[in-house]
Amino acid sequence: MIRRDFLKTIGAVTAGAAAGIPASGAQAAKSLLFQDGDDNSLNDLTLPIRSLRPQVDRQVSVIVIGAGSRGNVYARYAEAWPFAMKVVGVSDILEHRCRKMSDIHGVPAEHRFGDWSEVFKVPKFADAVVISTPDDLHYAPCMKALAMGYDVLLEKPVAQTEKECKAILAQAHKYNRIVAVCHVLRYAPYFIAMREVVRSGAIGQLVSVQHMEPIQYAHMAHSYVRGNWRDSKATTPIILAKSCHDLDILRWIIDSPCKSIVADGSLHLFKPENAPEGAPLKCTDGCPHESTCPYSAIDIYTRKKAHLNVFDLDGNRDPEVIMQRLLTPPYDSYARCVYHCDNDQPDHYVSEMVFEGGQTASFSMEAFAPYGGRRTRIMGTTGYIEGDGTQFTLWDFRTRTPKVWNKKVSDIPEYRGSGHGGGDHALARDFVEAVAAQDPSRLSSTIDVSIESHVMGFAAERSRRSGRKEKV
Ligand SMILES: NC(=O)c1ccc[n+]([C@@H]2O[C@H](COP(=O)([O-])OP(=O)(O)OC[C@H]3O[C@@H](n4cnc5c(N)ncnc54)[C@H](O)[C@@H]3O)[C@@H](O)[C@H]2O)c1
Repeated sequence: MIRRDFLKTIGAVTAGAAAGIPASGAQAAKSLLFQDGDDNSLNDLTLPIRSLRPQVDRQVSVIVIGAGSRGNVYARYAEAWPFAMKVVGVSDILEHRCRKMSDIHGVPAEHRFGDWSEVFKVPKFADAVVISTPDDLHYAPCMKALAMGYDVLLEKPVAQTEKECKAILAQAHKYNRIVAVCHVLRYAPYFIAMREVVRSGAIGQLVSVQHMEPIQYAHMAHSYVRGNWRDSKATTPIILAKSCHDLDILRWIIDSPCKSIVADGSLHLFKPENAPEGAPLKCTDGCPHESTCPYSAIDIYTRKKAHLNVFDLDGNRDPEVIMQRLLTPPYDSYARCVYHCDNDQPDHYVSEMVFEGGQTASFSMEAFAPYGGRRTRIMGTTGYIEGDGTQFTLWDFRTRTPKVWNKKVSDIPEYRGSGHGGGDHALARDFVEAVAAQDPSRLSSTIDVSIESHVMGFAAERSRRSGRKEKV
């Protein structure tokens, strides 16, 4: 079933709610979602997990700009569904990354590029571009791509400033092009199911939300202390770099524009004054604390074998090979002591939001947690939802019987390998369908809605710095 049909299925629910039928109407709508005789499971929601197979009547050609981790996620979708998507050009300043992706997809020599700007020196030769370069290289290629008539799959964050985000929105409208922002959580069955339960009226009126993003301590050290997103000025503030997904999900579930936001938070731990005595600049320089430090690069990479995608290992997970990488530029930047990096991203961040419908939300991003995955609590007038990123429970105050949604996306073979709870490739599917049909309504994360949550993020960061409540 294509997304439009799916929306039609639940359209009765939305129409009922929109028509202002709060009591019996909501009850009737609810029955569309919850079958009579349901046990305590929500897994039978009339919410099929749509196949990742795209419904297209033609093949969509794309150029991948930035053949790193995310670029490969989308290129793999083309490998899985070659009748629908074909990679016809690749750009990456790292020659081996460009070569590897180009070889897999049979990209001809004349369409293998280094810097992104080279792509636009040749006449348009594809339907769309995938922009999966670092955060500071989204704006310029996106503006150029739109002007040349390409549709765009744009990695988040959209751009580094609110002004640039709005300029991209205006450019998309000016050239009438499709821009899908990779807010992949919107495409994850878990969040789709959670949102549909809210929309069904099962918790009455939504009053408030508590949402947390635990980053997980080693992930924090990898990405936001040592790694690519450590410097808020070179990339974007962490509320956008990491948590624009969360602001987007809050705006999407609450379904009302955000009016104001107040935020706080700081970098507490990862700075030189907190380095244990005698810690050298790199974990690999014989640090006396290596065996007890939870942030040891040697431990995270060679023993736990986490976050290895940055080392270009081609699947080789031999600890000696990983260690060799940690000793070799440019990979040796990941061997740096977490107390001796050029980082400024906060490791704890709290915020409170008020929405136009009067709903409130609190959001916190926490580095010091043993796990990742979002935690969400949704409070309604007649019910409550609590979820941990993979399963959620609905409590209806009237029936007092908890119901659980715990469908395992990994049980569906074709969803295996699609990250973000299945959202990565579900987004790719909708993008390919939208471009093939030239119909942006196939997308949940259009540029227009994505800009809204980015504006929330910029307002949060202004508030964190000024100490004032900011209007959105
Ligand atoms: N949607 C999500 O959930 C999600 C998750 C992680 C990262 N991201 C975002 O995706 C983007 C890419 O992240 P990543 O993890 O793939 O990073 P990455 O470093 O793995 O990939 C980026 C690639 O861009 C290449 N590049 C750098 N400068 C270039 C230039 N001038 N021209 C062409 N190529 C260039 C790099 O060599 C690298 O291969 C970032 O903006 C990041 O914030 C999104």
